[in-house]
Amino acid sequence: MRELIDRLAREHTLTGREFAALIAGRDKDLDAYLFQRAVEVRQEIFGNRVYLRGLIEFTNYCKNDCYYCGIRRSNREAQRYRLTEEEILSCCREGYDLGFRTFVLQGGEDPYFTTERVCALVRAIKAQAPDCAVTLSIGERPGEDYQAMFDAGADRYLLRHETANDGHYRTLHPPSMSPENRKRCLRDLKNIGYQVGCGMMVGSPGQTPAHLAEDMLFIRALEPQMVGIGPFIPQHSTPFADRQAGALELTLFLLGLLRLMLPKALLPATTALGTIHPRGRELGILAGANVCMSNLSPTAVRAKYALYDNKICTGDESAQCRGCLEARLASIGYEAVVDRGDHPDFT
Ligand code: 5AD
Repeated sequence: MRELIDRLAREHTLTGREFAALIAGRDKDLDAYLFQRAVEVRQEIFGNRVYLRGLIEFTNYCKNDCYYCGIRRSNREAQRYRLTEEEILSCCREGYDLGFRTFVLQGGEDPYFTTERVCALVRAIKAQAPDCAVTLSIGERPGEDYQAMFDAGADRYLLRHETANDGHYRTLHPPSMSPENRKRCLRDLKNIGYQVGCGMMVGSPGQTPAHLAEDMLFIRALEPQMVGIGPFIPQHSTPFADRQAGALELTLFLLGLLRLMLPKALLPATTALGTIHPRGRELGILAGANVCMSNLSPTAVRAKYALYDNKICTGDESAQCRGCLEARLASIGYEAVVDRGDHPDFT
């Protein structure tokens, strides 16, 4: 197994069978070996610098009905909210003063936020903070809309593919959604010139090592600049309320594999990782991640952006979140930097 890890580090790819064998056969010793290699690679490119992102969850209205997600449209228990442009700009100003130079605007697929409104918002943020990057995470749209938002100044786009296996995709989503359209969106985004992020939940219902191997090959072929992965965590008012959460160890293992496969990638130690383990994000960095996201949403709405249960940081002020992250990173010898944190090929 160590030979496979060495080869992945050298050649940046493996076959599907080899990925599946690694994923199914991992153990503590192999984890330690992988993390050491992954940290070496990350260190060479990024040193001990960790990029910060300020996350603004600006709407939890969603027209989709993904079986795993707490803001799916069928969830009548969700208390819906939508921030105004002025509220969003105010979150960005506060974030700027706290040292954030990337703002991630994330929301459900909310028809109120037409492409015109999103473009106006991006222009307003860029006018207020020209030295900052704007990342959008607002789901599936037609290619021309992605182009318009890019032209308005958006730098990056996050759209997790969720699972590369079409059959598995259809078990996680209603028939109104398709894996083909998801993949079409990712290709459009890449062709337009965004720094693109895909990603999947680890341990989503029905997922096998073979599915994860397919995810690795899909990511290899897409060559995204960012990959967001986190454990699946059940949300109490979704169809997957009673399913098991994804495992910490497997999520960390995949982060390590991703670092070796895409050495220059921006890999966040996600909030979901921090939710299933008190030091999950620190462990993510120690497995190869190099990005941390901090919540800048107004405290009053944070708990309402409930994709999954027990999400961390819902009670804290933005400044507290920022301080807490910095201290956590310092505790493991890493530095939270004031920087846009672009992919090395985009600087
Ligand atoms: N557990 C973990 N992650 C989730 N997401 C949505 N619901 C859950 C859940 N129950 C992730 C999806 C989505 C991202 C914004 O959040 O991967 O793309």
